[in-house]
Amino acid sequence: MKEGTVKVLVPKLETFVKEPWEYAPSKAPVFYNPLMEFNRDLAVLTVQTYQRMVKRKISPCEPLTGCGVRGVRLAKEVEGVDKVVINDISPEAAKLAQFNVKSNKLTKRVKVVNEDANLLLSKYAAPRKRFDYVDIDPFGSPAPYLDSAVRALRNGGLLALTATDMAPLCGVHPQACVRKYGGKPMRTEYCHELALRLLIGCTAMVAAKHDVGIRVVFSYNNYNHVRAYVILSYGAKEADKNIRAMGYVLHCFECFQRETAKGIVPLLKRDCPECGSRLHVAGPLWLGELWDKQFCVQMRKEVKDRNLRLGEKISKMLYLVIEESKAPATYYVIDKICDKFNLPIPSLSEIIGELRKLGFQAVVTHFTAKAVRTNAPAKVVKEVVTRLSSSKTNDLSETN
Ligand SMILES: C[S@@+](CC[C@H](N)C(=O)[O-])C[C@H]1O[C@@H](n2cnc3c(N)ncnc32)[C@H](O)[C@@H]1O
Ligand SMILES: [Zn+2]
Repeated sequence: MKEGTVKVLVPKLETFVKEPWEYAPSKAPVFYNPLMEFNRDLAVLTVQTYQRMVKRKISPCEPLTGCGVRGVRLAKEVEGVDKVVINDISPEAAKLAQFNVKSNKLTKRVKVVNEDANLLLSKYAAPRKRFDYVDIDPFGSPAPYLDSAVRALRNGGLLALTATDMAPLCGVHPQACVRKYGGKPMRTEYCHELALRLLIGCTAMVAAKHDVGIRVVFSYNNYNHVRAYVILSYGAKEADKNIRAMGYVLHCFECFQRETAKGIVPLLKRDCPECGSRLHVAGPLWLGELWDKQFCVQMRKEVKDRNLRLGEKISKMLYLVIEESKAPATYYVIDKICDKFNLPIPSLSEIIGELRKLGFQAVVTHFTAKAVRTNAPAKVVKEVVTRLSSSKTNDLSETN
């Protein structure tokens, strides 16, 4: 396979699928998912942006590497990367990763290890041995690796986390989410944002235990996963700041009203202030920022200098997160409102325009193309949607 600027040997996925619904990457003897190229491209761009920010040689570690493609790409494609450590518990994976390191002429800079990820990270937890970047890209949840990843990162280091267990995080299996992330999910139309906030909230609480604070520089939802990039800063005060960014999202399934409540034990409203129905709760989760605008702007510049196959798609997503980086938590999915109140769907740009005219903040979101992120209450969003829908109906009847 060719990906980025590297060529790697990977299992031929078709050989291992017997039934069309089988998930080929996990059937193969060594894991490789071509659909995660987008995720790996973004890892290259984020690490490069980080390296330019810290302006020194950096040492990355990928403790769950599969065939090694991510680690090999980091070594080859990111300027200022020193030594890379990649690891996998599977002997077949480590062997294939070693082959890929050798075929890309990186044996001097990339070390391949074959042991448990937590064991490997613990060996690098001492001062002066720690990494600048740790990329946790597991099957399902990264939660079992969080403690050792935080311990293996230096002050100011960058931690990347992929979570593919979307069923727990989006509230299909709420109990599993509470177990893994220590927070309750909720099956709302913006559950992917809640998923990201649950993952980051859990990271903040784990880091806090080690007197370490986090700052989110970039995060997103794509395909089957959520992904977060956070910079660590050592210190109890930094950790305390993060705890103050934890809280809850309250949602009314009757009228779409939603509110947030900060704190670990805040007084939570029971009833919807708009319609009196019962409010549902998600959390504790991260209510802090999901993006550092300046960091994402730099990432977007970085895309332009590279000839990535998915460059256009990446640039578009970065544009969207830059737009939504300073907007409030949660978004309204217009189709869902129209469906509930039986209205034709007006155009999103018109809705955004109207909300802005009324003095509210209103922007698009990368989570879905059908939603608006706004600080307007649900009642106002519904009024605007209804007004634009009825003018649409009038237009239609006039043309008829
Ligand atoms: C999703 S795959 C990694 C994909 C890879 N990061 C990429 O970008 O292509 C997860 C890998 O974690 C490995 N793994 C599972 N449990 C592990 C553990 N406890 N320690 C180290 N590796 C483990 C699996 O063998 C598998 O190769
Ligand atoms: Zn309500």
